[in-house]
Amino acid sequence: MSHTKERILELLEGSRGQSVSGQSIADKLQVSRNAVWKAIKELENDGYAITAVSNKGYCLSKDNDILSAAGILPYLVNEEYARQIFVHECLDSTNQMAKEMALSGVAHGTVVIADHQTSGKGRYGRPFHSPSGTGIYMSLILDPAQLQFDTPTLITASTAVSVCESIEAISDKRPLIKWVNDIFIDGKKICGILTEGVMDFESGTTQWIVVGIGINFNRPSDEDVPDDLREIVGTIFADTVSPTSRNHLIAEIVNRIVCPDEHDDEKEMLAEYKRRMFMLNERVLVTQANEQFEATALDVDSAGQLIVRADDGEVLTLSAGEVSVRPHM
Ligand code: BTN
Repeated sequence: MSHTKERILELLEGSRGQSVSGQSIADKLQVSRNAVWKAIKELENDGYAITAVSNKGYCLSKDNDILSAAGILPYLVNEEYARQIFVHECLDSTNQMAKEMALSGVAHGTVVIADHQTSGKGRYGRPFHSPSGTGIYMSLILDPAQLQFDTPTLITASTAVSVCESIEAISDKRPLIKWVNDIFIDGKKICGILTEGVMDFESGTTQWIVVGIGINFNRPSDEDVPDDLREIVGTIFADTVSPTSRNHLIAEIVNRIVCPDEHDDEKEMLAEYKRRMFMLNERVLVTQANEQFEATALDVDSAGQLIVRADDGEVLTLSAGEVSVRPHM
């Protein structure tokens, strides 16, 4: 995208639903009115819903929801982050792309985003359904040396807290966490998190952490939801049009994960994580290797592991990589 077009998009995204005069855009960018007009036409051709109102200027529709770094920028607490945001129409997997980028050398906090994925990955190698136009598929590349938390489980937990708080900042929903990496609204999964490490084979250390976040934002059309997911999977907004954009939620998440805040304190983060967990003190079904047993979820320890009491009285500490746990009546 040309520099002028990108700057105009930033200005329109920063005033979504309001008119911005052509002259003020031309003055700000120090370009001619004709150059502004040409760039607006190009943006319209790219699919942006822009109306031109005489004597008022150009207005980007509130319903416009095209992902772009320019659309994320107005909501970032630090504009510098925008330079590290890479938005793609389609990728096989943003985690895959992020891991490749990490190896080629990038800055902490680099973000890879796709409108849709052809091979989105979930935990245990499961596919993550990633249709276009209604979801957020993003991966953050993080330098472990710049993170407060040093285990993948705690990084996943703190990401889950950040995503919940970000959703609360843009909606009236109260998202809850299912240990360890799923976020639910109204009993349905709306987000999954996949944390992966990029190793340096010579030193055997984790060089980079890639945190992948998949969010169901708007309701996709029925044909975009496979039958087996219809009952389990939900969306933040129940409609096809939402009160704010995917760009806005992405910025809220980047602000919380890349910018240090109060949840960098491990105790505080875990306390918030537990406040949002919906399985504590409840009956759960634990699946470990090929074995299943019923238990009561008691607590989460300082490493983010789940402590349960099995029905025979034995207290067990479950590590996230090895077991799956689901509510059980
Ligand atoms: C899960 O629910 O098991 C985790 C799902 C994680 C999906 C996200 S979407 C963005 C990133 N890219 C991927 O391929 N996976 C993660």
